[in-house]
Amino acid sequence: MELFDSVAKAARQLGVPAYVIGGFVRDKLLNRPTKDMDIVCVGDGISLAHRVAALLDPSLKVNFFKTYGTAQIRFRQIEIEFVGARRESYRQESRNPEVAPGTLEDDQLRRDFTINAMAVSLNEADYGRLIDPFDGQADMAAKLIRTPLDPAQTFSDDPLRMMRAIRFASQLGFTIVPETFQAIQDNAARIKIISQERITDELNKIMLSAKPSVGLDLLYRGGLLKIIFPQMVDLVGAEMVDGKGHKDNFYHTLQVIDNISRHTDDLWLRWAALLHDIGKPATKRFEEGHGWTFHGHDAVGGKMVPRIFARLKLPQDGKMRFVRRLVELHLRPISLTRENITDSAIRRLLFDAGEDLEALMLLCEADITSKNKVKVKRYLENFELVRQRLKEVEESDRIRNWQPPVTGEMIMETFGLPPGRIVGDIKSAIREAILDGVIPNNYEAAYQFMLEKAKELNLNPVK
Ligand code: CTP
Repeated sequence: MELFDSVAKAARQLGVPAYVIGGFVRDKLLNRPTKDMDIVCVGDGISLAHRVAALLDPSLKVNFFKTYGTAQIRFRQIEIEFVGARRESYRQESRNPEVAPGTLEDDQLRRDFTINAMAVSLNEADYGRLIDPFDGQADMAAKLIRTPLDPAQTFSDDPLRMMRAIRFASQLGFTIVPETFQAIQDNAARIKIISQERITDELNKIMLSAKPSVGLDLLYRGGLLKIIFPQMVDLVGAEMVDGKGHKDNFYHTLQVIDNISRHTDDLWLRWAALLHDIGKPATKRFEEGHGWTFHGHDAVGGKMVPRIFARLKLPQDGKMRFVRRLVELHLRPISLTRENITDSAIRRLLFDAGEDLEALMLLCEADITSKNKVKVKRYLENFELVRQRLKEVEESDRIRNWQPPVTGEMIMETFGLPPGRIVGDIKSAIREAILDGVIPNNYEAAYQFMLEKAKELNLNPVK
């Protein structure tokens, strides 16, 4: 590869041994696609970066940070980071490391996991040799996440690594060795010194893994979830009264998110699955002779979404509104599986869900977590019927992404009204009449209806 040749040549010219290290080596050995590349050299990383850039293409820009001794270049969409090997010790209450130049082994020792500490030589004498002092290869083969140092030390150096351990376990399907996991349980509270953006970044990577339940359950059992996302922990547990229990909503939710992840890579739809029952703890009641109920958990849960998104520093824009809408609507398709459902109920769902209808149906199907195969089959068939009805009504009425045919401006113009409540009342009366099927969905019918409605309010057209 041209890039490695250039690094090797530059390293030789400068007389500094250089190695490719970390995630790139790990992903190559795992046959995963590689992204960025980290080069460590025993010497000055910034000078090496400049020399490599000069060899590859003299017009390449080198970004460097003198204080950290790091430099980056971007070559054909690959981000290459250069750093001098270092020894590092972090002060207790801060993430600012005290850095001193070190050997390659010092540098490997300060890395997070054995599978992330492997290096490949780019030096003439042993070009291509894997340098793996902590036997990362064996851990890779056995699918284990393990720290090179005492895990308490590794996590106290950088508590984000507790999230990274869990994220790698979830992404790669690896197991965290007991000693390392114990250190997460012991040090979980230290996550508080990490910025929310970095925590949420890892959480989103867990959410995007093939089986997010793996990471979410580890976050819970490791004691991190309680700190970073306490509302999720409130879902844990199944209470018993008079011999009647309810399902454990935490593990139900994990199953729903795994179910939906088989059908979508959309992060926000996965978030909707994670939050769909978040209103349950607040609405839980035991009703005599009836059992547990969670009335209104859809509306209550929907209201919680903006606050949760704000706390986690997730976007406050359309993505948040999408998640909120899905949480609010997640029971609606189920209510349409009853018999004798009118067209107007179907039209209402088409109107309320609009372009998110398909996502909503996927969420509802993922929400079926019964272990009884016969029941699952029946529920899925019922949803198929709902889909069919939705399709038929949409084809005849065109309600999705629909705007009523008479606008507020038309109402104001016809009756010489200023903007205000009366205009809004007439507008929503027209919309309701169409959704209820009282009048057809066209301009003439809506205009006539508007005139009648206005008459009731003693309004006359101005022309
Ligand atoms: N590293 C570390 N501790 C951290 C972050 C990173 O020791 N908190 C080291 C690891 O050796 C890691 C390398 O720096 O492999 C590069 O880190 P980064 O690019 O953040 O992650 P990758 O391991 O490459 O994985 P991904 O790209 O999936 O985040």
